[in-house]
Amino acid sequence: MNSNVVTVIDLMKHYGEVKAVDGITFSVKKGEIFGIVGPNGAGKTTTIECLAGMRKYDSGSVNVLDLNPVTDSKLLKERIGLQQQESEIPDRLKISEAMLLFSSFYHKVLDWTDLLKQLNLWEKRDAYFSSLSGGQKKRLFIAMALIGDPEVVFLDELTSGLDPQARRSIWELVKNLQEQGRTIVLSTHYMDEAEKLCDRIAIIDSGKLVALDSPSNLISMYGGFTRVSFSVKGKFPADFFARIPGVESTKDADDKCIIEVSKKSAIVEIVKALDGLNQGLDSFQIQAATLEDVFLNITGIEVRD
Ligand SMILES: Nc1ncnc2c1ncn2[C@@H]1O[C@H](COP(=O)(O)OP(=O)(O)OP(=O)(O)O)[C@@H](O)[C@H]1O
Ligand SMILES: [Mg+2]
Repeated sequence: MNSNVVTVIDLMKHYGEVKAVDGITFSVKKGEIFGIVGPNGAGKTTTIECLAGMRKYDSGSVNVLDLNPVTDSKLLKERIGLQQQESEIPDRLKISEAMLLFSSFYHKVLDWTDLLKQLNLWEKRDAYFSSLSGGQKKRLFIAMALIGDPEVVFLDELTSGLDPQARRSIWELVKNLQEQGRTIVLSTHYMDEAEKLCDRIAIIDSGKLVALDSPSNLISMYGGFTRVSFSVKGKFPADFFARIPGVESTKDADDKCIIEVSKKSAIVEIVKALDGLNQGLDSFQIQAATLEDVFLNITGIEVRD
């Protein structure tokens, strides 16, 4: 049996000269949390819109739950949920009215009162859409994406604009969705979020897929070395540390000595050497590579909102 619920082969979508999606191929397994990350304008939203039947693509093939999002869009909409990066509903609609309205679009629905409680919006059920904060609107759109009891949920920019506490509760919600057997495809600009939540991550840049793997594999393949940083009094004896096996580079930057290591044993040797040097040690830190390093190494771009 094919366990893929999403299969994308050589997807292309150009807007005039702009190659928004330029031949992307990937598949998503049932029950997976699949992340799409990439710089602004990389083609994440366009890809998600093509998968969710919101946008016609130029060529390639897309299959979601054994349906074609273009020709079977009506059937597909019953089985998927989509939270768009940018959406609006009428200002004078109350939250409860919006949930009731969206419930009427599906044959099978979840209890919208439960959803509002889970998303911390229950107290706001009688508030007008126009009176909600950015984060509350975002949470409402997530609730609306889930109302139809979807098998596959597309979440474009999952937690942008949310405070740290709201982000954490959304992560919990997404994990619960997975435990219920749903498949989640999300895009995010937060690398910590992608690293924590996603089983696999596709990195796209300029409409092309540049890497696809689990967070830990991406980090070990593209994350680079572990960094040890500290301050010492006096001159940093860089050459002295460079002789330690496993030390890959040494740098004296803004009164901070930074040493990159490829082996854990090198860290022990650095500590021993520092002890012997007797140069007054301060702010010793060990920083393993993260998905943020992967993103920077692959795209050459620092992650920004
Ligand atoms: N409706 C449109 N008409 C013309 N060009 C578009 C349209 N939508 C997107 N584009 C262009 O296609 C490219 C990909 O855009 P897309 O919104 O898919 O990127 P993204 O990865 O979601 O970016 P972001 O991180 O900013 O959300 C960009 O160059 C964008 O300007
Ligand atoms: Mg986008």
